[in-house]
Amino acid sequence: MRPKVTVVGAGNVGATLGQRLAERGYADVVLVDIVEGMPQGKALDLLEAGPVVGYDSRVIGTNGYEETAGSRICVVTSGVPRKPGMSRDDLVKTNMNIVRGVTQELVRRSPDAILIIVSNPLDAMAQLAHHVSEFPRERVIGMAGVLDTARFRSFIAQELQVSVHDVQAFVLGGHGDTMVPLARMCTVAGVPIEKLIKPERIEAIVKRTRDGGAEIVNLLKSGSAFYAPSAAVAQMVDAIILDRKQVLPCAVRLEGEYGIRGLFVGVPVKLGERGAEEIIELDLTRDERAALQHSADSVKELVQVMGI
Ligand code: NAI
Ligand code: 2OP
Repeated sequence: MRPKVTVVGAGNVGATLGQRLAERGYADVVLVDIVEGMPQGKALDLLEAGPVVGYDSRVIGTNGYEETAGSRICVVTSGVPRKPGMSRDDLVKTNMNIVRGVTQELVRRSPDAILIIVSNPLDAMAQLAHHVSEFPRERVIGMAGVLDTARFRSFIAQELQVSVHDVQAFVLGGHGDTMVPLARMCTVAGVPIEKLIKPERIEAIVKRTRDGGAEIVNLLKSGSAFYAPSAAVAQMVDAIILDRKQVLPCAVRLEGEYGIRGLFVGVPVKLGERGAEEIIELDLTRDERAALQHSADSVKELVQVMGI
């Protein structure tokens, strides 16, 4: 029997993720959304693509949770975007109610699942899902670092006109303005970028990475990025289902690592069949450590708004 991956929120990120996972063929996919008929319609459409693309994953759409029972992985993408006039704190409170309810429904039926949280504000929502699920920290993981790192790698590859395959990088910290793209550890075919790109250009690329989400929102006018975010989640699902032991930047609850305790922050993590199997502690400089702490402080502010 194929493992089951549930995706809650069949909007832009969720449905595109559903497509990416169905096409991989290694899992059955359940799409859940509150909009009547929408997840059912998207799931049927994806199922009917199977004979053409060549996959036979089962894809089910539903407005309830019965079909999610026994999921190996549950991905939470449900939430609302920030609307004009809505403060950051209002957004936290709205999405908090959604993520809390969804998490309760999921864990009741899939007590052994690994949760991957995508809804924003990411680090705070991952913290909430961990709190609500009472799962061990290995099984609650936030997606942001893979996306932010993909943006960083894309811009460096563009700058140097090299393949993205040759660019290695890590973006740590919270998913927001305070994220920490680690330029010092970024390499192209093993060569540090500091030897290849002028400091002012590196600075510009770091800034563009931090503003990566906003750049897409400004272009799209309504809605936010979903192709790269869904690709990032799919890479995390691959690492877990295929037990790849792949080191990827993910938001996980730190318990003293990097000098941070009791908070979800993005750091390199070894992902495998048990979830976040190991937290990798990089040897950071004083400035990098301070930047990571600053980023953790802004996550803490949001967590305080939630009162958990
Ligand atoms: P979207 O608006 O296209 O989809 C969200 C879906 O959630 C909608 O279909 C909506 O009906 C559904 N939904 C709302 N409440 C629900 C509930 N209680 N139960 C089930 N479904 C519910 O938004 P999109 O673009 O797919 O983004 C989803 C979330 O992911 C947003 O919070 C967004 O900010 C976040 N995001 C996070 C990224 C990251 O790096 N962590 C990257 C991209 C998006
Ligand atoms: C992004 O970075 C909106 O968090 C989302 O594109």
